Amino acid sequence: MILIDQIKILVSTMTGTAELVADEIADAISAKGKSAEILLMDDLGADILANDTAYVICTSTYGQGDVPDNGQAFMDNLETTGRDLSGIKYGVFALGDITYNQTFCNAGNLFDEMLRKHGATRVGEIMKHDASSGELPEDQAGEWAEEWLEKLSEV
Ligand SMILES: Cc1cc2nc3c(=O)[nH]c(=O)nc-3n(C[C@H](O)[C@H](O)[C@H](O)COP(=O)(O)O)c2cc1C
Repeated sequence: MILIDQIKILVSTMTGTAELVADEIADAISAKGKSAEILLMDDLGADILANDTAYVICTSTYGQGDVPDNGQAFMDNLETTGRDLSGIKYGVFALGDITYNQTFCNAGNLFDEMLRKHGATRVGEIMKHDASSGELPEDQAGEWAEEWLEKLSEV
């Protein structure tokens, strides 16, 4: 078992809510004595993924179940990478709206499928926040992160 003390939160967002969520996740991780870094996906590629770090994919969904614009290049790079990602551990905090019931939080599903296809291991279930629930995602993020960290330590 490798003890992972470093977490990177990779953010894909259209209007910034996922960044607020990432801030809360980072605070909760830091409070547990681990290092947390927030990175907008923008120009990231699969080459940033390393085995001594765990990742939180924090993404909203747009269009017809699509990854937000700033996450598209990362998704494309993951798709075409020849890297074996076994050894990479990640969690997913997806933001969406159940009104789009066919594509609810689909970008979270898409990142999950792509990472798994290349051998990475998801820790915990995909968190799916519903914007029409009346609850703010940033209010749920800290508790989710604490539970996720516990699961990460058990893997
Ligand atoms: C034009 C538009 C399309 C959307 N499409 C979806 C969708 O297909 N599925 C979904 O679950 N949520 C969808 N949403 C909801 C957003 O993902 C949700 O409001 C999210 O909290 C926005 O987060 P962000 O500010 O980080 O981009 C859509 C929102 C808008 C405005």
